[in-house]
Amino acid sequence: MGPLAQPTGSQLTHDSGPTARLEMTGINVAFGGVLALTDVSLVVEPGQVHGLIGPNGAGKTTLFNVACGLVRPTSGRITWRGEEMRRLRPSQLTKLGVARTLQGVGLFPGMTVLENVMVGAHRHGKAGFLSAFLALPSSDKDERLLRERAMRALTELNAERYAGRYPGSLPYPVQKRVALARALVAEPDLLLLDEPASGLAEDEMHELGELIRSVVGRMSVLLVEHHMDLVMRVCDQITVLDSGKQIAAGTPEQVQNDPAVTEAYLGDAVDAEADAAELSNVDGGRTHG
Ligand SMILES: Nc1ncnc2c1ncn2[C@@H]1O[C@H](COP(=O)(O)OP(=O)(O)OP(=O)(O)O)[C@@H](O)[C@H]1O
Ligand SMILES: [Mg+2]
Repeated sequence: MGPLAQPTGSQLTHDSGPTARLEMTGINVAFGGVLALTDVSLVVEPGQVHGLIGPNGAGKTTLFNVACGLVRPTSGRITWRGEEMRRLRPSQLTKLGVARTLQGVGLFPGMTVLENVMVGAHRHGKAGFLSAFLALPSSDKDERLLRERAMRALTELNAERYAGRYPGSLPYPVQKRVALARALVAEPDLLLLDEPASGLAEDEMHELGELIRSVVGRMSVLLVEHHMDLVMRVCDQITVLDSGKQIAAGTPEQVQNDPAVTEAYLGDAVDAEADAAELSNVDGGRTHG
């Protein structure tokens, strides 16, 4: 357990008991004529890491965005802590005990690393979102507490030495750690991660895996990820999408041995190879920028 695991009085505003469960049922999403998701259901059980995998364009980010209110499903139900979320908005997430990192990084370029992380902490600060955002806490004490929390989160992510730097000046893997610190600082009960390992080296990926396993005592995790070894190592349950449909679900072992999954990934690789071959035929192997 990291330093964030030690609650201090006023932070105990939520109980993350057995009701901290995310349930998405019969989710359909259409973008114009494209069916991005067809009748997909997924449950993140309290205290578990739930992996969401599938080839490119399978619908993973779309389902992730449904879970955080960025995409409204055409039909289907989302239940969090036993309550149906009818009009879920991204701005409500922190209050609901949900934090996320998006595909890519998404830090505010004009704020320091520490300020970026402080923005993520507003659920616990009395200052409120706007003052936290503008770095105008209602009192010096609030500001100090907010800073301390943010520094603890950065320390847990081994990024405290970058606190005063601007995100744009930092290597991509460090930016990803800061984004994770910003999500963790709110002490969410549910953490949503979209491809946290992209752009990471092998050892950084290993550390990320350890970190995810170390936070599951405090929160549930929905993990969208392409790196199979990471997914297989850290997930309790996995849902596999292909072309917007669920093609498999179960434990890592069950999913790994499911022929439908092998076929989906194999088909993807074969398609990519065919595309590459076609491209080199068309333009004589030159690559376009
Ligand atoms: N805003 C949008 N408007 C139109 N189509 C979209 C939109 N977002 C996604 N799609 C389409 O929905 C499908 C699912 O896309 P999605 O981004 O969810 O896939 P993914 O599994 O996250 O892929 P990747 O592994 O590349 O991140 C794709 O066909 C994509 O082109
Ligand atoms: Mg995606």
